[in-house]
Amino acid sequence: MLKRDPNATQPKFIYLNRRHFLVKTIPLAAGALLLAACSPEITPIPPTRANDSPKPQPTAPPALAASEIPPALAHTTAFSNVTADELGDPLNNFEQITNYNNYYEFSLDKEGVAGAAKNFTTSPWFVEVAGMVNKPGTFSIEDIYKKFDQQEHVYRLRCVEAWSMVIPWVGMQLSDLLKVVEPKPEAKYVKFTTVMRLGEMPNQSTPILQWPYVEGLRLDEANNNLTILATGMYGQPLTKQQGAPIRLVIPWKYGFKSIKAIVRIELTDQPIDNTWRNAASNEYGFYANVNPQVDHPRWSQATERRIGEFGRRRTLMFNGYENQVASMYEGLDLQANF
Ligand code: MTE
Repeated sequence: MLKRDPNATQPKFIYLNRRHFLVKTIPLAAGALLLAACSPEITPIPPTRANDSPKPQPTAPPALAASEIPPALAHTTAFSNVTADELGDPLNNFEQITNYNNYYEFSLDKEGVAGAAKNFTTSPWFVEVAGMVNKPGTFSIEDIYKKFDQQEHVYRLRCVEAWSMVIPWVGMQLSDLLKVVEPKPEAKYVKFTTVMRLGEMPNQSTPILQWPYVEGLRLDEANNNLTILATGMYGQPLTKQQGAPIRLVIPWKYGFKSIKAIVRIELTDQPIDNTWRNAASNEYGFYANVNPQVDHPRWSQATERRIGEFGRRRTLMFNGYENQVASMYEGLDLQANF
């Protein structure tokens, strides 16, 4: 098992307290180093929260009025009533998925994100697609609903902190959008940027991370069938805390790659300096493929806590999507390229 920095383990509260102290006095990069991309869950197993149940039970989300559902999304709003992923593991319920979130622009408290994002404005919304493409364009969210097939995709989400959920997303394949804009032959990477909204996203006025939040994929990863732009969940439009109105979901990578509230997608030939790698390159890489054999310097990645379950389960290589994605990494040293 590779340990990049075996001496670095320390309880969450210590480095968070140090961060609060240091953020005022030191530059961004050093301050961000002390923050976890998702705070780690260090053994022993963290105390079970009050809303945890022994097994996640699929629960229907609160019904929306017809007027709250964008017309072009209406055909997806009939949730298929699937109850488990392809491995037979039950879906997390709507309450769990929407009340335990990472969205640092709003809050560092996972259970506080829903409240902090409540008044975030998600309409009107436009996504600019630019860079090395033959047909750049700006798409309104309504254009996106209309032009691109929105389907249900049940995926496991595995956070780098070692917790996970099973989520029934609604979304489109990113490759469908890329086909329309026609990447030029020299394009190698896709860069994604979250909206900058100082008036509504309080932490964008603090130096806890470099803003706006940025993520990136290699072009072949972006074109993989599993990679989606999600616009909904449980058959309804995405909630604000989940990154409404549109976010990325890449199920074989750690959750921090799944960037929320996207306003710009750029095709480029330059490697992408993604936010968490920029904050702490010894802890968070560009690839961020789920890999139980490569530990985070401060905690093990061999097991994870499925939200709603007691105990821990083994983490699967590529989060259980090995058959669909491993061929993209043939010949790549997965320990060096974490
Ligand atoms: N996107 C933005 N813009 N800001 C963030 O803080 N957090 C990431 C990712 N996308 C984050 C983000 C992390 S660390 C994770 S684990 C997932 O979102 C969490 O998604 P969820 O809240 O829907 O579970």
